[in-house]
Amino acid sequence: DRRLRVALLGAGSVGSQVAALLLRHGDELADRAGARLDLVGVAVRDLDAPRDTDIPRELLTTDAETLLVGSDIVIELMGGIEPARTRLLQALNAGADVVTGNKALLATHGPELFEAADQVGASVHYEAAVAGAIPIIRPLRDSLAGDRVQRILAIVNGTTNYILDRMDLEGADYADVLADAQRLGYAEADPTADVEGYDAAQKAAILASLAFHTTVPLDAVHREGITQVDAALIESARAAGYVVKLLAVCERRTDEGREAISVRVHPALVRRTHPLASVHGANNAVFVQAEAAGDLMFYGAGAGGVQTASAVLGDVVSAARRHIAGGVGVGESTRANLPLLPIGRATTRY
Ligand code: HSE
Repeated sequence: DRRLRVALLGAGSVGSQVAALLLRHGDELADRAGARLDLVGVAVRDLDAPRDTDIPRELLTTDAETLLVGSDIVIELMGGIEPARTRLLQALNAGADVVTGNKALLATHGPELFEAADQVGASVHYEAAVAGAIPIIRPLRDSLAGDRVQRILAIVNGTTNYILDRMDLEGADYADVLADAQRLGYAEADPTADVEGYDAAQKAAILASLAFHTTVPLDAVHREGITQVDAALIESARAAGYVVKLLAVCERRTDEGREAISVRVHPALVRRTHPLASVHGANNAVFVQAEAAGDLMFYGAGAGGVQTASAVLGDVVSAARRHIAGGVGVGESTRANLPLLPIGRATTRY
């Protein structure tokens, strides 16, 4: 039986759920990946910190650097630039495939990581970095690779959507709702990253780079947060048939006859009949307009530990398939052999 060594760096709200799912669904994941995924260790800052799931004590270590040695797949969910950047470069240089949800790192050092991976035929997977559980990285990189994306309008920050939504629906007070978003685990450790639009700007840079097949540096993204949005603005928007949303906008433009792109994050008025207007709570949505495909919308949970862990695990399976294929092609699992339910006997309404 083929086995792959999986190292996990970070056991915060997402990392602890990833560890639990890897341990709980080991057999199923082995079938899908084509190899047993052995969680060899979980690097944490504090061995005794409280965690959302029970990780066996013997897996915990504070020595991430040693844990990487000999790993086939490294999952980085520490966040922040350093030491995450150094650890991922070490992992890639040693030939490991890496999975990360680190939007700040990708938005600032993405090209460096991709180049390090190319040098050794390894891969970088980051579906969890943008819009939590929603599959959007692969659709932009793979499914739409034959099309031309014209524009993306996206709600990519759950915290600010949660705040604006409750201000809109209940006339709730900004500070109270922010405290709730923190309590529910949507907000970043420093919520300034959410409310000032930094988190959304990082995600916009990643989306625009993929959509337009280019590198969009984070400092090229215009950024405005929601701290200036007050009840009066929300009310006047409502009276005119709009709702206020913090949007990440990535679009192709023509500038003096030459093709250009614009990438920006700011509060925007969204017509109440637009699909993005019905994105409530901490949900995210990415509305993509492509030349041939037309309008597409990707919707779901944009934050939350277990939801985001789904995207991480999908990447781990992709990384494993790629790893055992020797870096070429992506394997497909046909082993599930589940019974098919008869179609046409509708028992569920959507
Ligand atoms: N703080 C982020 C949000 C978490 O609110 O969307 C997910 O990246």
